[in-house]
Amino acid sequence: MNMSASLAAGVPSETAPLLDVDDLTVHFGAVRAVEEVSFSLKRGETLGLVGESGSGKSTVGRAILQLTRPTGGSVRFEGAELTKLGPARLRPLRKRMQLIFQDPRGSLDPKMKVADILAEPMIIHRTHGAADRKERVAELLRIVGLGTNVLDRYPHQLSGGQAQRIAIGRALALDPALIVADEPISSLDVSIQAQVINLLSDLRASFNLSLLFIAHDLAVVRHISDRVAVMYLGRIVELADKRSLYVAPLHPYTRSLLSAVPIPDPRRERGRRRIILKGEVPSPDKPPAGCALSARCPLRANLGNPEDCTMTRPPLRQVRPGHSVACHFAETSASSAASGDAQPPH
Ligand SMILES: Nc1ncnc2c1ncn2[C@@H]1O[C@H](COP(=O)(O)OP(=O)(O)OP(=O)(O)O)[C@@H](O)[C@H]1O
Ligand code: SF4
Ligand SMILES: [Mg+2]
Repeated sequence: MNMSASLAAGVPSETAPLLDVDDLTVHFGAVRAVEEVSFSLKRGETLGLVGESGSGKSTVGRAILQLTRPTGGSVRFEGAELTKLGPARLRPLRKRMQLIFQDPRGSLDPKMKVADILAEPMIIHRTHGAADRKERVAELLRIVGLGTNVLDRYPHQLSGGQAQRIAIGRALALDPALIVADEPISSLDVSIQAQVINLLSDLRASFNLSLLFIAHDLAVVRHISDRVAVMYLGRIVELADKRSLYVAPLHPYTRSLLSAVPIPDPRRERGRRRIILKGEVPSPDKPPAGCALSARCPLRANLGNPEDCTMTRPPLRQVRPGHSVACHFAETSASSAASGDAQPPH
């Protein structure tokens, strides 16, 4: 179908984003978990979503999938406005978007064998007959790199890495377009982490999957992401193409996070300067009026603590092509990066 025909038919064109999140807001009573988060995701693209504990990453993931209903904003997925759909109309779309959790064994039913875990989505959604299911289960095992010897095992008989592969296989059972992976490697041994990242990376390429990859730190998402969004206290403070973000981060918070990432080159690693933020993250039920970082911001301190930071919330604005940042003084930050103050590219 050509583009004009597809538009005429109301079908989203291949070039339209798969997912468009606009001003997504989630409050739990007084707790402002997510505030006005906006980003889009193309088919086959991976966005890394990074922030420290409590910054709202999981809530963003759950709100996209409508597992937590947003307080405000919009989530368009494959052309449908998910926030307006009731359970019955969401059901068929659930096949197309899947969540992978941090603790693989906790997310698998301990009383079910691997064969049944992998077949379950096909039974719930009535997509395959018994024979096709068996075939598909075997195929899923192959896709995630496991042998049929695990079919009769229970989750507790699997290693952490095997269990996460099964969780990934289950997520793939119904050919999703979007996978939200919520810290999928945090609970795994370091030796296994790279394998699971590589598996997700390969699957994304093979199946043209879009991936929202959630993690605590910038080191984890670096390999797999096309773009990276950094969250602080419920908001995206910086969103950029991977290269731009790692080479020339603009937000003081991102620069602090990045200063914690070891550099593989020992010579440059010795010269790495940690930027440690003073004080605590404010409570999400009493967010500051202006910039959420204002009380702790090293850039603001350097600038003589301008009032702008505490009076007006800095909007997320594009400062360079493909690079947006929520800081009144991002340009100052950019010039100090150019003068060699930032971590060198590596
Ligand atoms: N169901 C809920 N009810 C009340 N508050 C919640 C609920 N879920 C999350 N929160 C609060 O919302 C904020 C964001 O939580 P969220 O779990 O999204 O953060 P996160 O970035 O995923 O953190 P972590 O890295 O620890 O997983 C936190 O203050 C949390 O306590
Ligand atoms: S707006 Fe001010 S307080 Fe916020 S990050 Fe920029 S300089 Fe720091
Ligand atoms: Mg979380």
